[in-house]
Amino acid sequence: MKKSNKGVVVVIASIAATGGLLFGFDTGVISGAIPFLQDYFELSDSQIETVTALGLIGAVVGALVTGQITDILGRKKVILASAFIFATGAVWTGLAPTVNQLMISRFYLGLAIGVSSFAVPLYISEISPTKIRGTLVSMFQLLITVGILAAYLSDNAFADNNNLECWRPMLWVGVVPAAILFIGMFFLPETPRWLMSKGREEESRKILERIEDEEFIEASIAAMKSDINIDKSQAGWRELLKPWLRNALIIAAGIMFFQQFVGINTVIYYSPKIFLAAGFQGAEAAIAASVIVGVVNVLFTIISLFVIDRLGRRKLYFIGLSGIAVALVCMGLGFMLPGAGKWFLVVSMLVYIAFFAISLGPLGWLIITEVFPTRVRGLGASIGSLSNWGFNTLVVWTFYKMASAIGSAKDVVVPEGQDLSDICPSCVGSVFWIFAAVALIGLVWGYFYIPETKGVSLEKIEEHWRKGGKPRLLNK
Ligand code: BGC
Repeated sequence: MKKSNKGVVVVIASIAATGGLLFGFDTGVISGAIPFLQDYFELSDSQIETVTALGLIGAVVGALVTGQITDILGRKKVILASAFIFATGAVWTGLAPTVNQLMISRFYLGLAIGVSSFAVPLYISEISPTKIRGTLVSMFQLLITVGILAAYLSDNAFADNNNLECWRPMLWVGVVPAAILFIGMFFLPETPRWLMSKGREEESRKILERIEDEEFIEASIAAMKSDINIDKSQAGWRELLKPWLRNALIIAAGIMFFQQFVGINTVIYYSPKIFLAAGFQGAEAAIAASVIVGVVNVLFTIISLFVIDRLGRRKLYFIGLSGIAVALVCMGLGFMLPGAGKWFLVVSMLVYIAFFAISLGPLGWLIITEVFPTRVRGLGASIGSLSNWGFNTLVVWTFYKMASAIGSAKDVVVPEGQDLSDICPSCVGSVFWIFAAVALIGLVWGYFYIPETKGVSLEKIEEHWRKGGKPRLLNK
């Protein structure tokens, strides 16, 4: 590829990836704001749960209703709309005068999280040169991890026990990346794939010539044209549910199932409590836990950028998931061996994060944008994203319940409330073993379903499904 082309696409992908920063920031920031919100509005625990849940429900709804709109109106317009919601939502949540407004504004912000979580990686995937598509889409995941870290830092920077309104500036910080995304996206082009699917060949060709390697341009244009000729009917749910796209659907929902059911968000969001449950003491230990986990997550996601287009998707998936399984078994052991297990637990947790960051984190968002044909790629990717939010909610919601159910089965007294440190450590450890078992099942599933999309154009992937090819035989 010409150097100048590479520069252009890296700039385009970096601007669009700001959507990932907003995803990470807006999902993460609420946890540090909650203690202050609770005191300020005098909220009950169940009201707090509602505030948190409404953000997630907004994300599910956002992904659910905009998939097809992204195919009809285009990728760029939908991302612009989400940036607008991110910016106004951040101002609104920070200004909220009543708890009802806080709830509605969190839902509103959630919509943007759901929309951008599939529209942004989709945009990057369709505008990337084939050979570095994996790296560029992984920038989205990188910025998610940067967003999560920025949320911890913003929470810590503004936390002030003498000022109950300190949660407001914590939330306002989100306006800055939202403005960058909005202004930046305004100047970026639409993707060549979407333009072509609307018959706008000249515009599509011009953009493709600026970004793609010469060897791929003509083949991609020819393949896109023939795709339009094969099926002129209105694309949508009916198309997506046809037998030739069954594997694509299984892959998108399946990878998100394993991404979430290895317990990533229980480790990320509960890491301070996990530290306390393991025997560390004090608020400082808890804050350090979040920051260390956040930094390791960012650093190892950077490594994934360099290897995802070299090693390929399958190898990375197997290496990552094997490491995750071993680390989860060790985390379980760490909880079961009190005292001696303390450092062992912390190291295992960091190893777990590192393996997730190089594999399932970026792979989930990349693969859901690669496996669907252009005309239903928006809808298909939105189903991947929807699965992600649905499974995420389910895992976080059941984590405490699983640990306390194990406690009851072992006849350990489990106190009321939602505090992990109240539960017997070995019960928490057992839940990590359940996650480890899921990771092992994921290895078998992945053997059959993870496609090697490295170096294969989006058009060739589509052709493979049309011919009835098996996922594991793609690129062979
Ligand atoms: C996942 C999130 C997770 C994050 C952690 C993303 O790929 O979808 O649920 O919190 O990675 O880095």
